[in-house]
Amino acid sequence: MKALILSGGKGTRLRPLTYTGAKQLVPVANKPILWYGIESIVSAGITEIGIIISPETGEEVQKLTGEGDRFGAKITYILQEEPAGLAHAVKIAQPFLGDSPFVMYLGDNLIQNDLTPFLNHFQDKQLDALILLRPVENPSAFGVAKVDQTGRVLELVEKPAVPPSNLALVGIYYFSPEVHQAIARIKPSERGELEITDAISNLLDHKNPVEAQILEGWWLDTGKKDDLLSANQILLDSELQTAIFGELDRDSQVVGRVKIGQGTQLINCSVRGPVIIGENCHLENCFIGPYSSIADGVTLKDVDLEHSVILQETRIEGIQQRIVDSLIGRRAQLGTGRPRPKALRFMVGDDCHIELA
Ligand code: G1P
Repeated sequence: MKALILSGGKGTRLRPLTYTGAKQLVPVANKPILWYGIESIVSAGITEIGIIISPETGEEVQKLTGEGDRFGAKITYILQEEPAGLAHAVKIAQPFLGDSPFVMYLGDNLIQNDLTPFLNHFQDKQLDALILLRPVENPSAFGVAKVDQTGRVLELVEKPAVPPSNLALVGIYYFSPEVHQAIARIKPSERGELEITDAISNLLDHKNPVEAQILEGWWLDTGKKDDLLSANQILLDSELQTAIFGELDRDSQVVGRVKIGQGTQLINCSVRGPVIIGENCHLENCFIGPYSSIADGVTLKDVDLEHSVILQETRIEGIQQRIVDSLIGRRAQLGTGRPRPKALRFMVGDDCHIELA
């Protein structure tokens, strides 16, 4: 069994962050989203992992993630020159996959469940495809399954205007090498991509054994800001353990589960967990409320923050209002020169969102 993780794409829904970086590397609870996928694949006993990368962000993904030693895996990087579809990614990965069955994992998906029970089901039933489905409120944003009364999958449609059900395709699929035949038989869709949903439909048309299972645990597709903040909240809730390596002065206090990295200094701060603060940060006169993740090298002075994700080396100073539900990119600078500012001065990049609520 091998694994194929897709970590290409343009990440349009996470702009502006994705102008300068891969969406799969945006951190959730201070760890790149992609790494959660790798870890869950390895804990299902799969160590031969191919990662599909794009020309724009591939180097960054490769540099940060490495050859797999830190995960106990062997990672092979596969360059997809054009974003020509998920099935196209499988096609170009054929030399890596050979005739091995594999799990395909979309690098911006996070699920609560262990991959092993699904893997066992896929292997025991000798399926050619096992897909995971989950009821959602906005099926048109996903691949959607058409099922009969018994729950049997009849067809899959990608982002349908009129969805045949509320069952979305989760971005984790198990395939036998038969999928390569199906991919060879399909044509690009209207948007010009070789769709994996079409390949699975083609397996169904050819009476290959395909099954679906309903995912009961949480599923997060972290492609948008609010999904990313939800992912951050859930992971801080479920996985964070208290560990304080940084230094707190006498006027600082920490309540609840809080992790503070090495070289970080807190002066007159109050932190209410769950909160994670990275390494080499400087926080002064701040209140840091629940569900905040602060990456390495961040400086915060006179800041009141809650339910937000702040990326590396950002500096925020003297903002009087509470900062909530925010996702702030790397090396951003937000500040006021005086206690009651009379004017706002901005230099804001393309596609940014600023809301004065
Ligand atoms: C892709 C798939 C879609 C699936 C979704 C899950 O869409 O094409 O079928 O439901 O991932 O995350 P994308 O997020 O690339 O638009």
